[in-house]
Amino acid sequence: MRVISAIEELRGRLQHEPAVVFVPTMGNLHEGHLALARLARDHGSCVVASIFVNPLQFGPSEDFGRYPRTLEQDCAKLDGLADVVFAPTVEDLYPEPQQVFVEPPPVADDLCGASRPGHFRGVATVVLKLFNIVQPRAAVFGKKDYQQLQVIRAMARQLNLSLEIVAGETLRAADGLALSSRNGFLSAAERAEAVALYRNLGQIREAILAGRRDLSVLEQAAAADLAGRGWRVDYVAVRAAASLAPAREGERNLVVLAAAWLGRTRLIDNVEVCISADKGL
Ligand code: PAJ
Repeated sequence: MRVISAIEELRGRLQHEPAVVFVPTMGNLHEGHLALARLARDHGSCVVASIFVNPLQFGPSEDFGRYPRTLEQDCAKLDGLADVVFAPTVEDLYPEPQQVFVEPPPVADDLCGASRPGHFRGVATVVLKLFNIVQPRAAVFGKKDYQQLQVIRAMARQLNLSLEIVAGETLRAADGLALSSRNGFLSAAERAEAVALYRNLGQIREAILAGRRDLSVLEQAAAADLAGRGWRVDYVAVRAAASLAPAREGERNLVVLAAAWLGRTRLIDNVEVCISADKGL
């Protein structure tokens, strides 16, 4: 496995690779990231993982500064899973102020985009830059960041990118908490509480599968439960899985998404809900 930070060196290394598969990350890798790297192997012969904490996708008061940077441990974890680690510096990727951006679709202004203005513009822009540098035939993203996955899918479709977007399932801790680099910010008490987010999503899922259709009542009950337990809730929302638009009558593929703060840490999670044909919304 080779670790490369310079763009030209990376291009040289990948020049004759017939089937590059790309796994973009911000590092501080956990089993969820590693599962994506394993999945990548099914989609090509040369797995490239990137590690880059992208300043463009963090708001001015967000955690860019304290985002964990653990390159050495990350490379040790990727050894045997990736063929190349691309770990550019901010200067490598942004040698001049970035003035050209990808304007993401309206879905990027909703949900996480509503509480993180400009976030998905920063994500879409860096991901397109990385795609252009790595030129993969496929790229792997986690469903953990469901809205991000849909923004990237829309970008790939609407900008006619010549690559396949592959989605990986969310990996969870034994109690159900979705693995996240930000879980490391949680105190022991917060970590014990954190699973309440997934539990609430699961309860909404079960309620829908049991026939409940009063979605806004379910959303509000989950938000109230979390708020009562000391969380600050950004949103709990049941949406159409493919578009993230509000779920309409007849819709069968749904996703329940939530974002909420525990102390200084913002956690997100989601669960998909597939309603059988005879029981659509
Ligand atoms: P990061 O948060 O490091 O996540 C990198 C990839 O890992 C994303 O596709 C994310 O959805 C996936 N991932 C995170 N937690 C996961 C889990 N528990 N199970 C499965 N997959 C998981 O997402 C980003 O970085 C950045 O926005 C990036 C796309 C790299 C652009 O900067």
